[in-house]
Amino acid sequence: MTTEESARALQLTPDGQLRHFLTLDGLDQSLLTQILDTADSFIEVGERRIKKVPLLRGRTVVNLFFESSTRTRSTFELAAKRLSADVLNLDISTSATSKGESLSDTLLNLEAMASDMFVVRHSRSGAPHFIAESVTPGVAIINAGDGRHAHPTQAMLDMLTIRQHKQRFDGLKVAIVGDILHSRVARSQIRALNTLGAEEVRVIGPSTLLPRDVESLGCRVEYDLKAGLKDIDVIIMLRLQRERMEGALLPSEREFYKVYGLNTDKLAYAKPDAIVMHPGPINRGVEIESAVADGPQSVILNQVTNGIAIRMAVMSMAMSGQLAQRAATEAEARV
Ligand code: CP
Repeated sequence: MTTEESARALQLTPDGQLRHFLTLDGLDQSLLTQILDTADSFIEVGERRIKKVPLLRGRTVVNLFFESSTRTRSTFELAAKRLSADVLNLDISTSATSKGESLSDTLLNLEAMASDMFVVRHSRSGAPHFIAESVTPGVAIINAGDGRHAHPTQAMLDMLTIRQHKQRFDGLKVAIVGDILHSRVARSQIRALNTLGAEEVRVIGPSTLLPRDVESLGCRVEYDLKAGLKDIDVIIMLRLQRERMEGALLPSEREFYKVYGLNTDKLAYAKPDAIVMHPGPINRGVEIESAVADGPQSVILNQVTNGIAIRMAVMSMAMSGQLAQRAATEAEARV
């Protein structure tokens, strides 16, 4: 089985419904479009006075964040609450894992509390995948970012934001700028943009911050920011991920800003209606100037708002897939 096939088999029911959401590998354009369309239908819920729908009523969602997070953790929590789920946020710093308990044992205990879904962020690439392979049937696993590997809900909320502002993917040229090497977000974005039919994905950064085989991910490489921004419709800035850097990959943050930081002058090299995105947390004066981050072309806060609708979509679709699979298994057992 290829990597794509095994990712598909683990994440989808036999009839193609989502049951876990771990990576965009193996997921086709129609499924990604279904996620975007479902999220679109949830945007209106966030504008109501009572921001709730009953889709996960009676279900328990556990947020398991083994790495720090502001946006992802809080928007997953809001999304689960807007779907009417009971939400448990496990504080890893005071949980049994900090007393030596293995991840598997912690999960067995949480499963014994009849949990229906785990939202997992972990510094180790593959941790959510490992959990999905061993979890009790019927429990959905959602990846909230694993190591350098993937951050699929971030990529999908970015796609929703792009679609809102540009109405399409075909013909779009998208630049991803900065520390691609350590970025799980960039890997998932490149995958999503290619699956959804973007014309070109361009990565721009110093060679020390680009993976050796980056073109094989489905993108073109540029080392010069001004030249790389020519004809670009969407600019995605990334932060320097110091927590994952080993060794001296950069002369200094000041030097990096001078060459790769997005300021008003450099932004003028992209198309006049280009939008500026950033997954956060942003470092002003390191990868982006405040005038750009807060300027008229910035959609950074729209991305955060869209995170709730995308996470509602993914959680409701995965729960529905798990229920469909359980019903099919029970029907088979009765025959
Ligand atoms: N974009 C993102 O993953 O941000 P957090 O680390 O704050 O969740």
